[in-house]
Amino acid sequence: MPQRLMTIERHILEQQRAIPEATGVFTNLMYDLALAGKIIARQMARAGLNDILGRAGNTNVQGEDQQKLDVFADETLYDMVKDGGRVALVASEEHEHPMPLPNDKPCGKYVLLYDPLDGSSNIDSNASVGTIFSIYRKISDGPCGETKDLLQAGAEQVAAGYIIYGSSTMMVYGAGFGVHGFTLDPNIGEFLLSHPNMTFPKKPKYYSINQGNEIYWSEGVRRYVHWLQGKAADNPRKPLSQRYIGSMVADFHRTLLEGGIFMYPADSKDPSKPFGKLRLGYEAAPLAFLAEEAGGYASDGVGSILDIKPTSIHQRTPLFIGDRDLVQQAEAFIQLHDQEWVDTYQDEVSNELVPGK
Ligand code: AHG
Ligand code: MN
Ligand code: MN
Repeated sequence: MPQRLMTIERHILEQQRAIPEATGVFTNLMYDLALAGKIIARQMARAGLNDILGRAGNTNVQGEDQQKLDVFADETLYDMVKDGGRVALVASEEHEHPMPLPNDKPCGKYVLLYDPLDGSSNIDSNASVGTIFSIYRKISDGPCGETKDLLQAGAEQVAAGYIIYGSSTMMVYGAGFGVHGFTLDPNIGEFLLSHPNMTFPKKPKYYSINQGNEIYWSEGVRRYVHWLQGKAADNPRKPLSQRYIGSMVADFHRTLLEGGIFMYPADSKDPSKPFGKLRLGYEAAPLAFLAEEAGGYASDGVGSILDIKPTSIHQRTPLFIGDRDLVQQAEAFIQLHDQEWVDTYQDEVSNELVPGK
């Protein structure tokens, strides 16, 4: 007898069976996302062949160069979810404003945020990139979603996940029943369960940060990273190895599999980005949701990422994510050495350190 293959669809359906009020809408939405992932993966695999590489010639709302695959991934995701009646409103890194559904399409009970292609500057180098998604319930009263639906604290997420386009394509998701990873079998075109119940290994292996930004870091971040490197004379530890791709999905995926911490702290490199580079709604919060489900923790350096109530869709946040103890150590260094920064930060972002959380 061949082994029963657990496709992502079967898996979600089986998880949903445990919830009596589940109607299948969520399962279908996850399937829409999986299908988008397969289409993006196919296009990605051909990227070197069909002249799709290169810049699209315009910049996104963050003022960053947009590449053609960013546009392709963005449009594919929207196309896959726009007419199924599962979502009411969509937000993407590539669009300044939330994207309503076409007028003639039914609105569903969820809202979706995504980074269609994360780490896209790595495409030309053939390194791993990914798609990140975050799903909330629509909380507004009208038939279709409003911006406030997209500005809920990360703790309210119904589900989150990513699709990583690497040496193989994987979809990793969490919806309150642990974090599960599926590898795309290109021969049958299905995501098959390959990594059930993913959790961070007990022993951290790597720290991950753009070390080239060290001169822009705060005292607390610098001292913390030196501590990770075993340089703190008063508090010595065995140095951790360092790995950094510059593609957060790939850096996070490795951190989840191998253990350790990924960071993109606030820095003084660009005064227009005082809170670092990463976006809360479709980069930090979904990965924070997964991290906590996998036994880890994610912080902005002050408190849990999942507690931050966003004020805008493209808001940026510092991020420390991975092994719970290591992330809490980062918070401790920042508390001790960066009090002035913490005060200014808390004037703008409502988050606070809850000891022992
Ligand atoms: P995106 O490609 O969606 O704009 O995101 C890139 C992000 C993230 O993936 C990565 O961790 C970070 O940029 C790398 O930034 P640096 O080059 O400044 O290290
Ligand atoms: Mn990104
Ligand atoms: Mn992106």
